[in-house]
Amino acid sequence: MPGLVIVGTQWGDEGKGKITDLLAKDASAIVRFQGGNNAGHTIVRDGVEYKFHLIPSGILHEDKYCVIGNGVVVDPRVLLEEIDGLHKAGIAASNLRVSANAHLIMPYHVLLDTADELKLGKLSIGTTRRGIGPAYADKALRLGIRVQDLLDEKILRKKIMAALESKQQALRALSVRRRKLQKEGEVSDEHLPDDRLDLHSITEDYLSYGHRLEPYITDTAKLCWNELDAGRTVIFEGAQAALLDLDHGTYPFVTSSNPIAGAACVGAGVGPTDIDQVWGIVKAYTTRVGAGPFPTELHDEVGEYMSAKGHEFGTTTGRPRRCGWLDLVALKYAIRLNRTSALAMTKLDVLSGLPTLRVATSYRSPEGAELKDFPYHQSILHHATPEYVDLPGFSEDISECREQSELPSEALDYIRFVADFVGVPIALVGVGPGHDQNVWIDPP
Ligand code: IMP
Repeated sequence: MPGLVIVGTQWGDEGKGKITDLLAKDASAIVRFQGGNNAGHTIVRDGVEYKFHLIPSGILHEDKYCVIGNGVVVDPRVLLEEIDGLHKAGIAASNLRVSANAHLIMPYHVLLDTADELKLGKLSIGTTRRGIGPAYADKALRLGIRVQDLLDEKILRKKIMAALESKQQALRALSVRRRKLQKEGEVSDEHLPDDRLDLHSITEDYLSYGHRLEPYITDTAKLCWNELDAGRTVIFEGAQAALLDLDHGTYPFVTSSNPIAGAACVGAGVGPTDIDQVWGIVKAYTTRVGAGPFPTELHDEVGEYMSAKGHEFGTTTGRPRRCGWLDLVALKYAIRLNRTSALAMTKLDVLSGLPTLRVATSYRSPEGAELKDFPYHQSILHHATPEYVDLPGFSEDISECREQSELPSEALDYIRFVADFVGVPIALVGVGPGHDQNVWIDPP
């Protein structure tokens, strides 16, 4: 299986990092193809917890290339912080490669992200405010600055100057608005970005990042071709997930890139026929950070139980994640979008102790119509209520289970029900955060 894509099938935070890390043992390269430091993954290895935002989960496998592909937007300051953190933990990170064609997140992107969210007020998306949307917008406007530009002072200065002009105008408008809102007592200082931008200091900072990043910068598409053409396995790792996809997710409450499997080709520079398998990662229940529709969301003690037991707080922003039952209508949609060949279900252990496990198998519109498919129309989705099938829960602690035969029959029935309903096998189940806390499920 030379080309394997791993994607999230819900609204992110499914635990893709852990599964990527596990499957990486048979791969020669792990490549991230979109997103930026809006993502966050935690890997627990030998009792040590590692948190990454930009660096792919594969970094702990020092014998494999760990690649930041051209489709990623890179905040070099954050990347260097992560590299420094790895060095402190005794990990050399000499296997890291960064695409010369990846776009950079600049200080003004971070400011604009906050400015745009403030401007939207009650309609805000709840972005991570890491500058992701504005960086992708500049890429599309052809005002973006790429990783390779860090290595040429003259070009870097020119490009920053060209990009800065329109940003300064936008941010001046923000200052005016900010002062107005502050006068009205609607925002406090901590919500307000410092909007001073200085060409010289930005250029100097980015040049120094460039010097430090130079050993890692390369043509990563070519690296992927070399590995694939030699018959070695390359894992393409998505950040975020299908329902946050810019084209196919719950727009506008989405991220600004395409986290679905098809985007691996664009974001890494390979062809569709390089992809042999697509693994979808699904949490045993559902979570969402930020605003936007979430039909199976729970506002009761069951939601609180999931939140507390699953430690459902964003790795990047620390925001509490909204929690709810597993939504099979949405999952079926994500599976078809990604043409998922297998699923890994994570955090099944969190559901232990709940007497009943509910799964949404259809939605009901306010007019009473049954909706079996994920509605493309936002207003329909916003008003849809889930119809549930109730399955018996389990009370046993399953975190020590390593074999299918050790799982309680109700847990196995839950896994089988989901797999049958969506028509894709669940090959692996996560029963805890540890690297070894997994159960392989026999094919039916
Ligand atoms: P942005 O990607 O920062 O622009 O945020 C857009 C939306 O995507 C917001 O609702 C974020 O909470 C959400 N989002 C972005 N990255 C992640 C992630 O890694 N996990 C979960 N939600 C995310």
